[in-house]
Amino acid sequence: MNALRANPGDNLLSRLITAREDGAGLTERELKATAGLVLAAGFETTVNLLGNGIALLTRHPSQLDTLRARPELWGNAVDEVLRFDPPVLLTGRMCARDTTIAGVPVRRGQLVTTVLAAANRDPEVFENPDAFDVTRQNARDHVSFGAGRHYCLGAQLARMEGEIGLRTIFSRFPDLRPLAGARRRPTRILRGFERLPTSLAPL
Ligand code: HEM
Repeated sequence: MNALRANPGDNLLSRLITAREDGAGLTERELKATAGLVLAAGFETTVNLLGNGIALLTRHPSQLDTLRARPELWGNAVDEVLRFDPPVLLTGRMCARDTTIAGVPVRRGQLVTTVLAAANRDPEVFENPDAFDVTRQNARDHVSFGAGRHYCLGAQLARMEGEIGLRTIFSRFPDLRPLAGARRRPTRILRGFERLPTSLAPL
């Protein structure tokens, strides 16, 4: 932080350090908390997107065949991975005023858990929601990056990383296939693999 303060560059942290509103900048604590948030929010989530994508595509070889025939669908496939197996399973909100959500009264101050993964399988939004389909027209309508004021800052970066990462691994290793022993992390909010053994060699 001190190095960047002395020598700011063209990057997010330098901009946060030099940002001023009505003459005031972020405190040291706020800067460190934001840097920590961006690192944590941007790293494991994308790792999970790649792992979940590799698992889904190797388990659905016909979908991989579709992508080989129509590589322009890779961007859509990343959104379908995000919809079907979201790296962030749930988040939460504190209720600002007494209200009713889906017929359930919620009082001001109550915590509401929003299960993004469940919303992504809403049959009123997605036809045949339990099918993994890289050609799905409205795959992008998922809520895996949240919604509203706190919508993910890194959504477009994550989509790019996901597309480049998945596309590259499947084109460099066309024989990539799953081996036994995959294990999920025992986490409740983030959803990804602790181990995902695969073979890269031809059969
Ligand atoms: C596949 C990858 C990613 C997923 C699934 C994801 C998911 C999410 C979700 C669901 C939220 C909203 C949380 C809420 O409203 O309670 C969020 C917020 C956020 N994400 Fe991401 N994220 C990803 C990648 C990234 C990357 C790459 C970065 C940064 C480089 C990032 C930075 C952030 C930040 C800073 C917030 C907080 C925004 C705010 O509160 O205004 N995320 N993300």
